[in-house]
Amino acid sequence: MSVVIVVGAQWGDEGKGKVVDLLTEQAEVVVRYGGGANAGHTLVIDGQKLVTHLVPSGVLHPGKRCVLGDGMVIDPHTLLEEISACQARGLLARGELLIGAGAHVILPYHKLIDGLREDRHAATARAIGTTRRGIGPAYEAKAARRGVRVRDLLVPARLRELVAANMEELLPLIQHLGGAAPGAAEIERWTSDALAAGARLAPSIGDAGRHVYQAIKEQRHVLFEGAQGCLLDLDHGTYPFVTSSSTIAAGACQSAGIGPTEVDSVIGITKAYATRVGGGPFPTELHGAAGESLRQAGGEFGATTGRPRRCGWLDLPALRMGVRLSGMSGLALTKLDVLSSMPEVLVCVGYRVEGTEYDEPPGDPDLVSRLEPIYARYPGWGELPRDVRELADLPAAARDYVAAIERLAGVALTLVSVGPDRNQTIRISDPFS
Ligand code: IMP
Repeated sequence: MSVVIVVGAQWGDEGKGKVVDLLTEQAEVVVRYGGGANAGHTLVIDGQKLVTHLVPSGVLHPGKRCVLGDGMVIDPHTLLEEISACQARGLLARGELLIGAGAHVILPYHKLIDGLREDRHAATARAIGTTRRGIGPAYEAKAARRGVRVRDLLVPARLRELVAANMEELLPLIQHLGGAAPGAAEIERWTSDALAAGARLAPSIGDAGRHVYQAIKEQRHVLFEGAQGCLLDLDHGTYPFVTSSSTIAAGACQSAGIGPTEVDSVIGITKAYATRVGGGPFPTELHGAAGESLRQAGGEFGATTGRPRRCGWLDLPALRMGVRLSGMSGLALTKLDVLSSMPEVLVCVGYRVEGTEYDEPPGDPDLVSRLEPIYARYPGWGELPRDVRELADLPAAARDYVAAIERLAGVALTLVSVGPDRNQTIRISDPFS
């Protein structure tokens, strides 16, 4: 039995979906923790694409239990659409999905407020560039102890009371943000739609925490699937340019309701370069043609919003911070193939500001905006061979690059991904063994 947590080691979009899909071959229970439909995992199986936002990427393996932990914020309509898309492909049979009754619900007013705030700050230095999925406002309600939980969708009187109490406070905010105050009929429609969605989801709603704990006690392999990345963590990321949940490995315990002593290993996922969506510091960002060519080569457009991702060189100080925050025991390196077109590959190994060097991103936002990356340079390796199964199959320059990342990050590599398909993977060690 093993309990493995998979986390994004950067700012999200590291290719967690593919790694979770691979590890799910062995896992019996796959648990999504934290966040909501702001995440988007693109899965490519036999050349076919499936994007999931809420359902864990483990869904591609029939017979596995997919759990949505209590720490999540769930848009019931998005979830229903996703369940239908999975079932249309013969996936997610009845009984395979368990939705934590304690998870919070995203309602239309959360998305409205998220969007209004974004519009207000668009094109200013304060713009977070959220996914507009209502994530921040839903977690605000949770922290203020007035959130709506999944279990409330099953009790009409309680849901109506909660929505009414929330709207009383939020109507002035919506107007202050320049929005049109929703009328009673619209609020009633939001509520009845949520109740209808709750009725459809009811057979899958249950006690996620107990189920996960029981699976661990029954010696089953359990896989926790992180969303976003360590540097978007609410407490430890590049605040305020972060998401509103705990994205580090500790968030898995918090969300699912298990203790840290149950966890056997933490696998961090990092791309061979770096990307970020939305605002916030990104010291190694490549602008102009260089950034564009990396974006095109890597297909770096958001799976949730379609936004072009900002692209740059791998940032080791930021990666090392992720390693520290999540206590990573292994590292999965993804998208190595994307760098094949580069004549030279750079890696940021530290930062400098006015003569002072930093080996992790400093917290002070004034300093962060002035960081100059210190780069190590590696020769490019050209196209990778078609059939790469072992590190030894890689060109020598690519092998050197991979070895340098492992050494500089200070964590052993678990796998290296050299393309989107399952078989384009070099497996080095098995976290479940
Ligand atoms: P929110 O989570 O929608 O509130 O967005 C807050 C910040 O996190 C924005 O910069 C988003 O672009 C970023 N973000 C949220 N989810 C993801 C993700 O799954 N991948 C990458 N960035 C994300």
